[in-house]
Amino acid sequence: MQTLNDLLAESKIFAKREVLSPHYTPQKLIFRESEINSIERALAPSLKGQRGRNLFVYGKTGTGKTSCTRYVIGEVNSIPNNKARISYINCRIYNSRFRVLNKIISDHLPTYSKRGYGAVDLYEKLTGWIEEDSKILVVTLDEIDVVKDLDDLIYTLTRINSDIKAGGVTIIGISNKVSFKEELDPRSLSTLYESELVFAPYHPDEIYGIIKSRAAEGFKKDVVGDDILKYISAAAAKEGGDARFSLKVLSKAGELAEERGRTAVLMEDAVEAVRQAENDIVYDVIATLPEHQKLVLYSIVMLTDSGGTYKKLTDGVDTYLFSGEVYNRYKSLSEGMHKSAKSERWYRNYVSELEMQGLIMSFDSGKGIRGHTKLIKLLYPTKKTKAVLEKDLFGGAAEQRAQVLPDEE
Ligand SMILES: Nc1ncnc2c1ncn2[C@@H]1O[C@H](COP(=O)(O)OP(=O)(O)OP(=O)(O)O)[C@@H](O)[C@H]1O
Ligand SMILES: [Mg+2]
Repeated sequence: MQTLNDLLAESKIFAKREVLSPHYTPQKLIFRESEINSIERALAPSLKGQRGRNLFVYGKTGTGKTSCTRYVIGEVNSIPNNKARISYINCRIYNSRFRVLNKIISDHLPTYSKRGYGAVDLYEKLTGWIEEDSKILVVTLDEIDVVKDLDDLIYTLTRINSDIKAGGVTIIGISNKVSFKEELDPRSLSTLYESELVFAPYHPDEIYGIIKSRAAEGFKKDVVGDDILKYISAAAAKEGGDARFSLKVLSKAGELAEERGRTAVLMEDAVEAVRQAENDIVYDVIATLPEHQKLVLYSIVMLTDSGGTYKKLTDGVDTYLFSGEVYNRYKSLSEGMHKSAKSERWYRNYVSELEMQGLIMSFDSGKGIRGHTKLIKLLYPTKKTKAVLEKDLFGGAAEQRAQVLPDEE
């Protein structure tokens, strides 16, 4: 047990704890020279006032898309007297056309960003500002897949190019969602994909390089051995070459060692840290599911959790639900939340999506149980899954954000 005094004492493990945070942007991004170069090439024309090609950046989570893009934005911003004006927009926060436009205005024309101006006024201010000395506005949309009215947003941004007599708008879109392309309008698609850049997952030795340099700065001397770093790199490579995962594990391993009163990280700390980080990932996946998939999953959780009114099958260990009952619960849940439930065909797609994410298992009942039907089983603990879903569906972050940001014009 640590006392308050222990906690206040200087850490025996960490030298600069913040360096190990996945939110920390290192000054040097290794192994990504060619990707950084591609982004630089996409932005180079805008420095001289020419509209370059739009760029779409795709890659799995933790492959360095955000870090590399922000790095190049920093480079461009440090060049004096250039024509590029960049907005970096995290679409998790600015998730609609109106919010994105507002963010662009508040970045570059802060006096107009206060409430009260409608979309039309803001649009005119923006085009006037671009035209006045032929600027190139570079709109970087990170996590672009979460924008609710993305086709409208893309349309508005491209329309600027035909409405202005000088200057232009270039779009950089960033996403880690594979299926994102399929949901886009063909016009938006051809606009966004004028050029494409793919970030490959990191190899184990690249992850090793990344965490080795972070460990050297973040930990005290001789706290983390090479065997630990190798073990973590291999685990992160298995997780899809995710550098963020490796950093989470590394700092968690340090925290565990500290809690356990050690002066060095042991393999058992690293093993435990990997286990915990793997668990966290599942709950991150749940938190970022589309709304109706969340509702279906929530229905499964509720039915699994309650013992009563529905017909469940148990083999003494596990609980299996009838697909039809899950659908009924999903329907009533949606109604209760004043959302219209999707058709059964969509519902079946949601079930396959949830299954693909490894959150549930579904299988055919075989003959005998109500003729032929599908059975569904939740693969994660109900309590924790429920807590994550409830926070997301009914409260917390989403509502608070809505209060801060105006929703519609
Ligand atoms: N080449 C690199 N060199 C050093 N650190 C890196 C590198 N690539 C990624 N990282 C680290 O990993 C973290 C995650 O990277 P980043 O946020 O850029 O990933 P991403 O591709 O945007 O992921 P997501 O799709 O989840 O948004 C960064 O904060 C950074 O600390
Ligand atoms: Mg990112």
